[in-house]
Amino acid sequence: MGFLSKKSVHATNSIRELDGIAEKMREGGRKITKLNIGDPAAYFPTPKYIIDAYVEALREGRTSYSTSHGIKELTSAVSARYKRMYNLDSSNEDIMVTQGVSEALMFLNSALIDNGDMAITFKPYYPEYLSHLKLNGGDMLFENYEESRGWEIDTDRLERSLAKMRSDGKIKKVKYMILANPNNPTGTVLGRKVLGEIADLASEYGIFLISDEIYDEIIYNGFKFTSMCEVAKGIPHMILNGMSKDYDSTGFRIGFMIIPEDDKKSAEFKRKMMDYSATRLSSNTPAEYAAAEALNNVAAHKRAVGKMVREIEDRANHAVERLAENRYIEVVRPNGAFYILPRIDLKALGFGNDRDFIHTVLEKEGIQLTRGSGFGGPSHIRIVALPPKEILDYAINRLNVFCKKRAGR
Ligand SMILES: Cc1ncc(COP(=O)(O)O)c(C=O)c1O
Repeated sequence: MGFLSKKSVHATNSIRELDGIAEKMREGGRKITKLNIGDPAAYFPTPKYIIDAYVEALREGRTSYSTSHGIKELTSAVSARYKRMYNLDSSNEDIMVTQGVSEALMFLNSALIDNGDMAITFKPYYPEYLSHLKLNGGDMLFENYEESRGWEIDTDRLERSLAKMRSDGKIKKVKYMILANPNNPTGTVLGRKVLGEIADLASEYGIFLISDEIYDEIIYNGFKFTSMCEVAKGIPHMILNGMSKDYDSTGFRIGFMIIPEDDKKSAEFKRKMMDYSATRLSSNTPAEYAAAEALNNVAAHKRAVGKMVREIEDRANHAVERLAENRYIEVVRPNGAFYILPRIDLKALGFGNDRDFIHTVLEKEGIQLTRGSGFGGPSHIRIVALPPKEILDYAINRLNVFCKKRAGR
């Protein structure tokens, strides 16, 4: 019998897997350009009004444990945000504060999943959905975003799959369906019609729906965002969100979950999440006070997020244009978040898989990318379009020249 559990192999994160090699290269004097981490605070300083609120909370001595499920100031601010933005009526009991969406994923999987249970997500997906499900003994059933349709979800195809799962008897094992909108790693923003159809299918097949909307204000190219809570009224669902992206505060480690409905599943789930919150005592107390101010100071937030999103739009569109110059790359333009997932013609470049590709690009060019296969999208690479345009230009130039050289090898 080994010391570590068998399931511990699922504690992985492909986004950071080249960090060790990159660090050694840097120590050896090589210049490394990182395009792998989706951390806005590394490129856009966290807004001053949020920092001031954090400092003030510390000065006021707010340094003890807080209420496990979140301070009332923050749950009320979350409720007000959702009323303001999506006309959602929610009470403090529907909302729980977590240490990032990451902790919400740990809690919800532990609470819902026994060995052999299943969940549904769409490829390419955010990898931590799979890690936390598998760590709890669950298995993922994969549906697809259709690359040829601009990474859209084909709901007719989803319906056929669900019908098959029902006839196979699998549907009984499915505890939830999860998706990120906007999506990481494709930057896809799903429209109201598709979201409504997904919600209706979840309802028809009795599947609890989880919508991770952590990028819900990072929307551009004229797109309009619809929250799942707007189209899933009366349908059991949960919304995940937090401070990391829209509020540019990744290191605060504050997230929140909202379960707006009161059907039997939702009510049971809400109560259980409260139990989970008590197992880790509380979230970061001063950060919770800062988060309440971040959400409540709507004017300051609008200014900060508006400026950041305009920059991201410019950088992402610029990166797409530069990538499109590369004949070995096919790229779908993102309309939200800050990721691009180009397809690479690995065969033409003499690579067997995307893992070898990103290793070689790091070793030869000093550019750190993430492999698409880590997101269920093999033959792709994920590029984070947060750095300033001159850095994106430098990295994409090197990538483009590298591909040209490889093709003519
Ligand atoms: C879709 C998605 N969900 C959740 C997270 C993690 O969020 P948090 O910082 O709140 O743990 C990320 C981070 O990149 C993400 O892309």
